[in-house]
Amino acid sequence: MHPWLSRLLLILLVLGGRAVLALEGVPGPDGLVVSASRPASEVGGAVLAAGGNAVDAAVATGFALAVTYPAAGNIGGGGFMIVRLPDGSATSFDFRETAPAAARPDMFLDDRGEIDPDRIEAGYLAVGVPGTVRGLALAHARLGRLPWRDLVEPAARLARDGFPISPTLAAALNRELAGPMQPFPGSLTAYGKPDGLPWLAGDQLVLADLAATLEAIAADGSDAFYTGRIAGLLAEAMAAHGGLITLADLAGYAARERPPVRGRFLGHEVISMGPPSSGGTALLQMLGMFEALGLERLAADSGEAIHLTTEIRRRAYLDRAKFLGDPDFVTMPGDQLLSRPYLKHLAAGIDRERATDSRQLAGDLVGPPCDESDETTHYSIVDAAGMAVATTVTLEGSYGSHVVAPGTGFLLNNEMGDFNRKPGQTTLSGEIGTLPNQIAPAKRMLSSMTPTIVTKDGRVVLVTGSPGGRTIINTVFDVITGVVARGLDGSAAVAAPRFHHQWLPDRLIVERGGLAPDVRRQLEALGHAVIERGSQGAAHSIWLDPQTGTPLGIADQRGPDAAAAAAPLPAVIGESSQ
Ligand code: GLY
Repeated sequence: MHPWLSRLLLILLVLGGRAVLALEGVPGPDGLVVSASRPASEVGGAVLAAGGNAVDAAVATGFALAVTYPAAGNIGGGGFMIVRLPDGSATSFDFRETAPAAARPDMFLDDRGEIDPDRIEAGYLAVGVPGTVRGLALAHARLGRLPWRDLVEPAARLARDGFPISPTLAAALNRELAGPMQPFPGSLTAYGKPDGLPWLAGDQLVLADLAATLEAIAADGSDAFYTGRIAGLLAEAMAAHGGLITLADLAGYAARERPPVRGRFLGHEVISMGPPSSGGTALLQMLGMFEALGLERLAADSGEAIHLTTEIRRRAYLDRAKFLGDPDFVTMPGDQLLSRPYLKHLAAGIDRERATDSRQLAGDLVGPPCDESDETTHYSIVDAAGMAVATTVTLEGSYGSHVVAPGTGFLLNNEMGDFNRKPGQTTLSGEIGTLPNQIAPAKRMLSSMTPTIVTKDGRVVLVTGSPGGRTIINTVFDVITGVVARGLDGSAAVAAPRFHHQWLPDRLIVERGGLAPDVRRQLEALGHAVIERGSQGAAHSIWLDPQTGTPLGIADQRGPDAAAAAAPLPAVIGESSQ
């Protein structure tokens, strides 16, 4: 068998009318990196092989993803990192973008007071002050072992020398260049093929300006980005094109180290991201309700289990909308939201015979939060000493704002759209106007990113996370309950069908083929509006086999270019060419 196939096997089986995704894990006893892009996983694997720890590998992988996975890997966006050290302590790094000083709660409204989607989806106004470079620098300063330069240089090299692009990346770049990037000459220069023709799979993508930017960051640290030449180019382009970010916004950006949220679930500890991500809080709420209802006793694919987990999801997402925002601006009932009595009380309100009406559940809070896009990316790392890192980063939309400020070489986020966009307006069809996530200068917008580490008896069991906007929390919940409550191995848990309910819109979304027809009928009879759609998330995970303790890297092939790389090299393992 082809060696790649022997290591990572993707099989679509049709069993009893349901499509089942089967994945084979990649062993990495000396450390592993699993990301959305093979060259980026390779960079992380090489750092582990060179004696770097998991944080070093996370920094290097993060910079490499900014080159090889431009849809979401970034230096122009933000993210979150959870680190669990071998001594059992844990921390998190928050490098979420912030609103510029000139931002106002009504900045996305047109003259009629209606939300103007064009200002949110693309262009300079949509950009939050990027956090990634400061965030990776903070994580490195706190916990890294290798020199900073050695961690940024591999990404600079990839950008300077180029790398062969996958069919997926070629198609995505062609779509971007023909469409959303058209109004932005800096983007066309950065990502256009030099001969002006469409990109083909296997072409070498060279990103010269990005290489220079990364070289400056490698040499001078994060200040090169926030106060140096790059900051000047960004601020200049912002001023010329209606953006708000100034030199002062950039110089004032600070990443934060925060305590992660931690909770118990069926004898395991779950460590995840607290606010300004809603992910960890909502995840722990769902797991607490799951345990309170004893759902581990039900078959995961039964109508009863899917009904009850849908009700759990509904309640956690309502609390998310009501209470969560940037902890530097908003006082949240954090401990109460995660207390056992409160979660038991929420679970006790679930009707086993009927779907709850989301609108009634909300009381006077009428409608749903604003939509978050599906484009984000997660990577998981463990090193030989047992340090584990879960990192999720995002530009918000796929290719963010689609803007590359001339001369900088990197894509900017459109994360401002993760704020609530119209103060006071909460509707059934797509907006929430409540205060916790309203725009304010220097505030962080609420996120759903859920990088998570699960341990048992002091040992790491699972490192996971996903892209997918608001679906992220449900994807992580499904993977964790698969491993912890259903006894699945990591590959089976990642492959299993996923479900999504986010309170409003009031619908249960199921991966296509994930529901047996009779179970669907049962759920509809209970009152659920069931919708099937393609795939949900891409949970690039590491699972530690409880029998052997060996880490297995699971590259979720819902993201077609994903790959695991084990240390020491050569052990670059993947399914595709990117
Ligand atoms: N932009 C996606 C998130 O932060 O959840």
